[in-house]
Amino acid sequence: MSIAVDRVPAGPGPEIPPPAGQRHGQEGLVRMTALPPVATMGTALHSTGHDLLERLRPGRVFMMGDNPALPRMPQRPSLADFFRLRLEPFTARHMLHSARRAREQGLDETVVLACLLHDIAVGGLLRSHHGHWGAQMVEPYVTEEVAWAIRQHEILRFFPDPAVGYDYPEAYRTFFGARYSPPDHVREAYRHVRAHRWYMTARLVTLNDLYTFDSDEDIDVGEFEDVIGRHFRQPEQGLGFDGSPVAHMWRTMIWPNNFL
Ligand SMILES: [Fe+2]
Ligand SMILES: [Fe+2]
Repeated sequence: MSIAVDRVPAGPGPEIPPPAGQRHGQEGLVRMTALPPVATMGTALHSTGHDLLERLRPGRVFMMGDNPALPRMPQRPSLADFFRLRLEPFTARHMLHSARRAREQGLDETVVLACLLHDIAVGGLLRSHHGHWGAQMVEPYVTEEVAWAIRQHEILRFFPDPAVGYDYPEAYRTFFGARYSPPDHVREAYRHVRAHRWYMTARLVTLNDLYTFDSDEDIDVGEFEDVIGRHFRQPEQGLGFDGSPVAHMWRTMIWPNNFL
């Protein structure tokens, strides 16, 4: 059975029952979802709070809790659960192929893990400043070097390094136009990154940051269970429930449609 969920600015969706065996306190009500303002800014969908409130009626509320349109997450979600049940599949595959490539080259597991996680924010949270958001999400669970490399790959992607065979990505010419040039603050950040002792770790992420747009080859995060086990400190309580300063970011991916 497919379940439609209302999105701004369409009309209300049907009543959505809670997943079997679970209660969210909104039983019997039509549950509406609203897109996050950061996703609608600059588009016709950018609605005001007033518009949203006008949509409320008796028996119709904004969604809180599990959205049955999404696969249910386990109570103590692991990194692999996010890969399999939440991340956008295309981006998850892209990261997995990057990590596989790094491993096939015999690179250090620090680099393999950084490749595995480098676009996690694109897959599950936000695109703009994805390296920064991604680094923040994983910071409590990886080494400082891995988080740093994830943060800085975002910047390094724009700057060639012929000494190691890294060219400006052809894909970026298609994405951003042939004349696109990064702004001054990015160039300034690059100067710092270039001089940093971990420069090559981030550079190796960009060297393995290939776009496998035409690859449908199945690849599962289980392939990296060993690397994750050794280098990703998964909290016992599950990602999102360990009280860390970034737990809310993981919970946002578990319940992305919570109104507040
Ligand atoms: Fe990236
Ligand atoms: Fe990437």
